[in-house]
Amino acid sequence: MAGPRSRRCFWLLLLALAAGAVGFWRAVRDPWPAQQGIAVPEGEQQDTARVVAATVALVDRQHVPGRSFARSTFVKAHACVRASFEVPELEQRLRQGLFARPGRYDAWIRFSNGSASAFSDERRDTHGLALKVMGVAGEKLLPGEPGADTQDFLLSDSPRFTVASVAEYAELVLARARGGRFGYFFGDSFLPWRWRARAGWLAFRARSATPASLLQTQYNSGTAFRLGPDELVKFAARPCQAKRPPRIDPTDDMLRRRLKDELTRGDGCLELTVQLQIPGSNMPVEDPTVLWSERESPYLPVARITIPKQVFDTPEQDRFCEDLSFTPWHALPAHEPVGGLNRLRKAVYLELSRYRHVRNGTPRGEPRGFCLDLTRATCPVAVPAAPLAAAASSAAQPRAGVRRAAAPEELKPRTAPPTPTPAAPPTPEGVPPVPPEGEREP
Ligand code: HEM
Repeated sequence: MAGPRSRRCFWLLLLALAAGAVGFWRAVRDPWPAQQGIAVPEGEQQDTARVVAATVALVDRQHVPGRSFARSTFVKAHACVRASFEVPELEQRLRQGLFARPGRYDAWIRFSNGSASAFSDERRDTHGLALKVMGVAGEKLLPGEPGADTQDFLLSDSPRFTVASVAEYAELVLARARGGRFGYFFGDSFLPWRWRARAGWLAFRARSATPASLLQTQYNSGTAFRLGPDELVKFAARPCQAKRPPRIDPTDDMLRRRLKDELTRGDGCLELTVQLQIPGSNMPVEDPTVLWSERESPYLPVARITIPKQVFDTPEQDRFCEDLSFTPWHALPAHEPVGGLNRLRKAVYLELSRYRHVRNGTPRGEPRGFCLDLTRATCPVAVPAAPLAAAASSAAQPRAGVRRAAAPEELKPRTAPPTPTPAAPPTPEGVPPVPPEGEREP
């Protein structure tokens, strides 16, 4: 029989556990920011410059001599696949930008793991889907790429971002630059009240277990975007039909092997959806750590993405995949990325892509169709810039044509020599340069 003393210990322990659980819940629950709309804080430009410089330094630090310069994050590509993007007739409030009219477009998708280094698919990680829809006519948001006719969507299987603002992100990268992997989350201190429990918890949860298939998981934008002048939305791509694929032997490249297997047997299908911001609900734009409630605003389908049966695993296609540049700012004004972390991404993705391509001496530009040569010098086809009418087009296939497309200004042939000297950290427009510090996306 337990004596009164051990009973007291038991109740004290239970009380401590309950207090710990309540404290943890209070620390990690979603905040309700006073500001739910767009608001640009002071000092954001300076923080942006620091992040750009730090991220470029990271690319240098990660570079393995003799190999090409990789992305700073989402480094490991599983595949680039050809796809078709089809917009049906939508309800009136969703008919904006790319979704204004029914149409079918060719698209590329790059599937990746989220980490800054390539390791086995068996390990927990975030998983990325970068979608590039081609032949999208009209003015775009990114300066310096006037001829680009692409609209990108960058999604990951983590539904929210780890930190709330550019200032926090800059602190995170600087803490990592000081060398500590977990320094930001523990405030470089043993005192629990200095810890950033919520950010640590979100960073831990962002890495999901390996999905059974890259076609059987939901990918989210995490951050918010405009949908025309009046609506703000988040995007998500989810399987058209939930299936439970058979188990596959765990190996380093199990996700690529599973995709190859699936696309040898038949077509893959995802649907792109939007979640509308509801005024008065906790759906902030400036804090992407807060989940928007699906109960209050369910995801609404806006397009069907078909990945036709195909062979994707050729060395040429893998190389082409690494030369593609995705950014949420390859966008129509109707889909402008909003919120601090999206504003940060405008400078970061552009400078990182420029830096990587200069160091590798590879052509940088937007694809038009399924030609694997970004300069288009060796492509036999000119791909129409406008979408094919839904009814007039068959499933996405490399298009056959007759004309040779003219290479745009920015594209240079692959024969350009690698840049021999390290370039200075690039500077986003209007932002002063800052000494490099190493970092990566959480
Ligand atoms: C929740 C929001 C975010 C999502 C869903 C997301 C998703 C992605 C994906 C899918 C890629 C891979 C693109 C590819 O395949 O080429 C990527 C690349 C990248 N992301 Fe993010 N990202 C997010 C936020 C951020 C933020 C806030 C930053 C901070 C600066 C950032 C920095 C980068 C960088 C530097 C790359 C590599 C770009 C390159 O070298 O071309 N991302 N992101």
